[in-house]
Amino acid sequence: MCGIVGYIGKREKREFLLDGLKELEYRGYDSAGIAVLHQSEINYFKASGKLDNLTEKTKDFRSLGFGIGIAHTRWATHGKPTEINAHPHWGEFSFVIHNGIIENYMEIKKELQGEGVSFLSQTDSEVIVHLFEKYIKQNFTAQVAFEKTINSLKGAYAILLISKIAPESIFFAKNAVPLIVGRNAKDELFFGSSDAPLIGFADEVIYLEDGSYGWANEKEINLYKNSQKMQPNFKLLNSSKIYAQKDGFRFFMEKEIYEQSIVTSETLMGRIKDDKVFFEELSEYDFNDIEEIKICACGTSYHAALASSYLFERIAKIRCSVEIASEFRYKEPLLDKKTLFLIISQSGETADTLQALKMAKKAGLKTLAVCNVDNSSIVRISDVTILTRAGIEKGVASTKAFATQVLVLWLLSLHVARSKGKLSEDLCKTEIKALRGVPTVLKVNEELHEKLHRLSKRYLHGHGFFFIGRDIFFPLALEGALKLKEISYLHAEGYPAGEMKHGPIALADSTLFTVALMPQTLLYDKIKSNVEELSARDATILAISPKEFALADDFIKTQPYEHPMSEFFEMMVITQLLALEISVRLGNDVDMPRNLAKSVTVE
Ligand code: M6R
Repeated sequence: MCGIVGYIGKREKREFLLDGLKELEYRGYDSAGIAVLHQSEINYFKASGKLDNLTEKTKDFRSLGFGIGIAHTRWATHGKPTEINAHPHWGEFSFVIHNGIIENYMEIKKELQGEGVSFLSQTDSEVIVHLFEKYIKQNFTAQVAFEKTINSLKGAYAILLISKIAPESIFFAKNAVPLIVGRNAKDELFFGSSDAPLIGFADEVIYLEDGSYGWANEKEINLYKNSQKMQPNFKLLNSSKIYAQKDGFRFFMEKEIYEQSIVTSETLMGRIKDDKVFFEELSEYDFNDIEEIKICACGTSYHAALASSYLFERIAKIRCSVEIASEFRYKEPLLDKKTLFLIISQSGETADTLQALKMAKKAGLKTLAVCNVDNSSIVRISDVTILTRAGIEKGVASTKAFATQVLVLWLLSLHVARSKGKLSEDLCKTEIKALRGVPTVLKVNEELHEKLHRLSKRYLHGHGFFFIGRDIFFPLALEGALKLKEISYLHAEGYPAGEMKHGPIALADSTLFTVALMPQTLLYDKIKSNVEELSARDATILAISPKEFALADDFIKTQPYEHPMSEFFEMMVITQLLALEISVRLGNDVDMPRNLAKSVTVE
């Protein structure tokens, strides 16, 4: 989703702004731009496509000495991803960048057009700069003009605005979209959509609250909410940049697949004590009055939710339902205060998930977030959060975030089971043993990776893929298919294996590829029959199983684990690597697939 960077100070601005945008590339974008105000002169540059295009356009531009700058990567919502629609947008003497959606922009635009204002772009964002200039022309000070502008906007926004009227200040506003302000001892000020561009520059940061706005210059930060002046609440910023490197891997996604063993050790750290699951975060949390768990999420996080729903019912004996957040928000759901509302999100900024959380809170439900990004909007709003500790995930296609989500949810099912007195000692022992083994299961076997690399060349054509599985392997099939379609652009669907005969089997022929997840610990004979039915119709079968399967066209032999979750995690890695290798062979951009964004902050 769009990314924002801003700077006030004496540093060379072009370099800082472009580097900052680079740090935000993982969010996804299709055009970019910068504007720098220096000695009463504004220079601006925009380019569609990758950041390299903007870097090329600005190669001769430098701005030394005090100045201010704003920079933006745009992910198109209103208007095509063209250069003219790229940010910043300008009026006569001011420039704006915006992330989010201005819902009432049409009304404002019509009103301004009626007053003679011309618009250059098709974006909703352009209204902001014209509205601001309208108030300036009505003789309001820049501060009042900005406040009036913000008060006129409905929707979600992170905004930075600069103007020749106030050449030393950046005006900022935040509602429902992340925006951070940072500073250091050299009186430099920084703005960003996330910590990433500020690391190594700012010592401390303010995570702006929804509804806050203000203006900042070298000397001060004036922060307001509801017209009341607020005291900025600075937090120290971690200075580690190690995550930003690919560590010798070809892609961030590949590095993140290999990292799963390490990050899951982190996820487990301190959470198993005396052979029991222990969540410090939940020490005050009482599950006794909870009769049901409702989980809400999107995309990969939804698949983790779906997998965990089997665990909550099977292990904790508690009713569990799972909802796609974008559906939940408009279905007028019946919510019961005895339901625990569980939110799952890697980024903590997904607009649909965030909105679902707000609805549940409004209905008075207890809320618990499973999230990877501390201080994200979802973390700040939910009653309690369990952090997944996956580290920053840069590949748009989520891998290690999924692994850590499933792991946390499995731990949580055991925690709930114990809290409700439903966990036998025997079951607890078996589960803890398997939990402790996850980091080992997730160590990537290089020979297996090589085999998948070789195998991938056979799967570059055909009219589609079915990933099939049963029980917890059904959500894993959904996730395997999502991974493949995200980065290969091939059509892939996940299906419960037993459902194929109710329709999808009609597609079966030799160019329909079926990736069959055939664990030995859960319903092996059932899935075997389902795969045989497909094979009888000449579908090409790639079987993943610890048991030899004679009808397979291709076979990946897995370890004979005794616990279904161990088999789950091993098969997860195989489907991730398969998707990666197919995508590489097709020459696609593995880390930044077309049309996708890492953090989906619009609905
Ligand atoms: O940050 P979130 O977990 O809330 O994101 C939800 C989805 O947008 C995300 O999982 C998406 O499906 C990924 N690209 C999957 O690889």
